[in-house]
Amino acid sequence: MAYLNGDYLPLEECKVSVLDRGFIFGDAIYELIPVYNSKPFYLEAHLKRLVRSLDQIQISNPHSNDAWKHIISNLIEQSGLTRLSVYLQVTRGVAKRDHAYPANTSPTVFGMTNEWPAVNPDMYKKGLAVVTAEDMRWGRCDIKVTSLLANVMSKQQAVESNTDEVILIRDGYVLEGSATNVFIVKDGQVMSAPKNNLILPGVTRDVVVEILNENNIPLLEQAPTQAQLTDADEVWITSSTKECAPVIIVDGKPVGNGKLGELWGKVFNLYQQRKK
Ligand SMILES: Cc1ncc(COP(=O)(O)O)c(C=O)c1O
Repeated sequence: MAYLNGDYLPLEECKVSVLDRGFIFGDAIYELIPVYNSKPFYLEAHLKRLVRSLDQIQISNPHSNDAWKHIISNLIEQSGLTRLSVYLQVTRGVAKRDHAYPANTSPTVFGMTNEWPAVNPDMYKKGLAVVTAEDMRWGRCDIKVTSLLANVMSKQQAVESNTDEVILIRDGYVLEGSATNVFIVKDGQVMSAPKNNLILPGVTRDVVVEILNENNIPLLEQAPTQAQLTDADEVWITSSTKECAPVIIVDGKPVGNGKLGELWGKVFNLYQQRKK
């Protein structure tokens, strides 16, 4: 079952108007919450980001946190799944097409679940290959908006070059992937772009930062240069879907010694413990 504006109904029966601003302008935000053993992982952090996204684009939050939790737990229960993702989307609602925010329009709220694909074991055994590309996104990458065309086009470059992800470079600095955050390691020092308007504040990024801090692993929250990426001993990409995944090839060249990183192994294991 999916959720649309107060009703639970089969996904195929969810219909929204063509005048919905989510459809017309991509005027909408979303959230994706991983669920393991029927329990949402880092739910509070996802809800906090959802509320922040709404705030930033001035859509009034249609639900209290408790009401959001209620919708999420109903969706989980009705999915009959134990390992799934919950996708939530809020648009500014339906209105005559005009760029300015409409007055008196209620937001459209949509939710659906999907079975969480079993992680491809090769990802953690062999590692991933990525390519770099110029970041062509807008200046508010910190808001989780559905208008993802630049990310979609960037990801297609990864697909067409037979790699797993694109790492986006702006003015020579490594910011994040098309749908992941990026960490590099050099001589035991971890580096990752800081949380500002140029990256999405990934919940998985925060979990990895928490793990690093708890284990006294030095972290510099500063965007690495492209040269530092090329010269790194290890590169990791993080997201709710990929968790913390090792990258062994960047632009066709091996990362470090071309094997899975030692520090990555440690962080990966600590991440798995957190999931339990
Ligand atoms: C651009 C971008 N960066 C990073 C992430 C990772 O975020 P999270 O760890 O919350 O899944 C995503 C996830 O969709 C993303 O789209």
